[in-house]
Amino acid sequence: MRKVPLIESLGIIGRGSLNWFAQRPIVVSFEVTDSCTCYCRHCDHGGPKDDSRNLRPSDYRHYMDTLRPCVVQVSGGEPLLRDDIVEIVRNIQSPSGLPYTILVSNWSHMTEDLYLELRRAGIDQFSVSLDFPDERHDDFRGHPGLYDHLNRLVPKLAAHGFDDIVLNSCITSENVAEINLLADKAQGWGVNICYSAYSPRRTGCRDYFLNTPEQLAVLRREFARVEERRDGTNWIVNAPTTIEATRQYFENRGTPGCKAGLRFLVVTCDGQLQPCSMQFQRYPLDERGRMIEEFTSRNTCDECYVSIRSYVDKSFPQLLWENVRGFFSFKGRNGRSIGSDSARA
Ligand SMILES: C[S@@+](CC[C@H](N)C(=O)[O-])C[C@H]1O[C@@H](n2cnc3c(N)ncnc32)[C@H](O)[C@@H]1O
Ligand code: SF4
Ligand code: SF4
Repeated sequence: MRKVPLIESLGIIGRGSLNWFAQRPIVVSFEVTDSCTCYCRHCDHGGPKDDSRNLRPSDYRHYMDTLRPCVVQVSGGEPLLRDDIVEIVRNIQSPSGLPYTILVSNWSHMTEDLYLELRRAGIDQFSVSLDFPDERHDDFRGHPGLYDHLNRLVPKLAAHGFDDIVLNSCITSENVAEINLLADKAQGWGVNICYSAYSPRRTGCRDYFLNTPEQLAVLRREFARVEERRDGTNWIVNAPTTIEATRQYFENRGTPGCKAGLRFLVVTCDGQLQPCSMQFQRYPLDERGRMIEEFTSRNTCDECYVSIRSYVDKSFPQLLWENVRGFFSFKGRNGRSIGSDSARA
């Protein structure tokens, strides 16, 4: 994964430190639309939704000025359904290069021109969801032809050499045995990979959680192999601590201590603040303090270990270390990478 230039990285760390102590969010996820091009089995989005109250691109600047996050996810629904997505990204970015901006997408609407335009507008990382290393992806996502589209497009765009594409594979009971095959696919396509964990909270369905000792044994075996495959290039984007915490999340059937609303939050497509994408208490932008008081300080939910959470749940020294160590040990393919995990969705 490409390394962020030192100056920009210090900017991220500086702003992150300020936010940490000022109780502002480190990561903000802008869900720019609720509509989607897929009907994934593990997700509560899917298909067209009411987009009449969506924020306009220029509205995002006000949210950025107020929240001042150092990392932004542009997500949804499917963000590439917005025909003004490039304009949205321009309004999120600032001349300083901050925030580090990740587009989280299924890539059904991605094209070569759009990829290049989004890079120019300020996307630092393209997080592409991939649940299976073959056509089973189409079936799981309810989108015929999606795998074929990715199979043609991802290697083509990776060949530009920007090293900014990361496959995002959400581990479920259906694909736990495919963890290393998904890594093979990332290598074959010339991109990076990042794992996240299924949460039953989105749909209420526990079938895709790892429910049996056999499934957990497969997870342990697959993760052990992932650890053996690491090299100096950070192509396996999760930090080892996050892989371990993900294993514990499945084994303990949850992870307590969530800081949703404080360290990270979601801005819905119509501009309300939510603690996370799976908690639907909504607050206006100027009532973030009330969200922390009413939600975060009393939150006992332990029902996910999605990436946005797994990154910022760490202690401040650990977070800082995982972001700066790359400058002392990194020998990347293209010489560019931000510390593990912060570069993920
Ligand atoms: C909600 S989607 C939005 C962006 C885009 N539509 C996509 O699929 O990448 C963001 C990520 O959440 C993951 N996701 C969906 N349902 C989930 C669940 N129940 N638990 C954990 N992650 C989930 C998806 O696999 C995807 O990688
Ligand atoms: S995971 Fe993404 S692509 Fe799938 S239904 Fe949810 S929002 Fe849409
Ligand atoms: S653990 Fe936290 S981020 Fe996850 S669903 Fe619960 S409140 Fe949301």
